[in-house]
Amino acid sequence: MTTNVLGYAAKSAKEDLVPFRFERRDARPDDVVIEILYCGVCHSDLHTARNDWGWTTYPIVPGHEVIGRVVGVGAGVTRFKPGDAVGVGCMVDSCQQCETCESGEEQYCDGAVYTYGGQDRHDHSKTQGGYSEKIVVSDKFVLRIPDGLDLKGAAPLLCAGITTWSPLRHWKAGPGSRVAVVGLGGLGHMGLKLAKALGAEVTLFTRSKGKEEDARRLGADHIVISADPAQMAAVSGRFNLIIDTVPYIHDLNPYMPALAKDGTLVLVGYLGALDPFLNTTPMVLRRKSVAGSLIGGIKETQELLDFCGQHGITSDVEVIPMQDINAAYERMLKSDVKYRFVIDMATLKAR
Ligand SMILES: NC(=O)c1ccc[n+]([C@@H]2O[C@H](COP(=O)([O-])OP(=O)(O)OC[C@H]3O[C@@H](n4cnc5c(N)ncnc54)[C@H](OP(=O)(O)O)[C@@H]3O)[C@@H](O)[C@H]2O)c1
Ligand SMILES: [Zn+2]
Ligand SMILES: [Zn+2]
Repeated sequence: MTTNVLGYAAKSAKEDLVPFRFERRDARPDDVVIEILYCGVCHSDLHTARNDWGWTTYPIVPGHEVIGRVVGVGAGVTRFKPGDAVGVGCMVDSCQQCETCESGEEQYCDGAVYTYGGQDRHDHSKTQGGYSEKIVVSDKFVLRIPDGLDLKGAAPLLCAGITTWSPLRHWKAGPGSRVAVVGLGGLGHMGLKLAKALGAEVTLFTRSKGKEEDARRLGADHIVISADPAQMAAVSGRFNLIIDTVPYIHDLNPYMPALAKDGTLVLVGYLGALDPFLNTTPMVLRRKSVAGSLIGGIKETQELLDFCGQHGITSDVEVIPMQDINAAYERMLKSDVKYRFVIDMATLKAR
């Protein structure tokens, strides 16, 4: 059985998102039914709506920074009850059997099911995301939101937060380490906040003059304008970890000299071939690495949420009505986001 719900969908790469009705399954025994209160707007939503990666199937309802209240649970669910504040991030299922799943890194499972544009493992229906009034998700992929966290500001933790938290933890950022973030947008601003809270010395690389004051407030100890060769030269050999959040093709070569020996530049933004080619000389001479990283596992996401609950960390958000989503995408393309749009889902039925 299914229930008809309202959302916002892209129907092709060239069209604006528009209201769209679709079916959600009724609760299976392990499901949690969530009324969505807020949904963050990730640059991946835009990439998907516009088919930048070439794998979008339409119509697509984006949204994977979902915050809501439980309104129902399947018969086998014991961890959640109606009224609980919960979150759903970029995944709604995985195989639950492979070594990767067993180690709590479901995001790297071959059977991981994304929140939108994925295929349900049981009924083979297409998954649709959080720009909608309701979502139904297996309890294993539902996160608990700590008491006291502002729900609007907590939404972006489910993607922007975990995507920067996971590499910070994997590469052991903390007191004594020097971390840099490239790009001050949704991911970047969470990267600054989390790296600072973990005790690292934090630097922002940005193209944009005028973000300095915000960057300092968000946790940056230093700001480097990436187009300024003198500023780039001044940080030569400095960073143990650089998290690069830039969404589009760009030259990595200027950042490699800024890594310390054994340092790693982790790409979380751009997917695709590099241009120009990467010069390996700085890597070979100082054992530097270039790596990638994808969101984070469910256990790790809960750890992040609990850490944010303890430290009072949320995202800096601009709350928008659902109807403004297309304008928000245009602003995102101009890097005019301070620092995450979050949709107030109560506005979905407003017009
Ligand atoms: N790996 C993962 O698991 C994962 C998870 C979530 C998102 N992502 C990806 O990460 C990327 C960043 O996402 P986001 O939501 O943080 O995006 P965003 O809010 O739009 O921020 C991107 C920032 O990158 C900088 N930038 C540099 N060149 C740019 C260009 N040509 N166009 C726009 N911005 C440019 C800008 O910062 P300055 O003005 O400071 O230069 C901008 O604010 C996206 O590609 C997204 O798909 C990956
Ligand atoms: Zn995302
Ligand atoms: Zn698996």
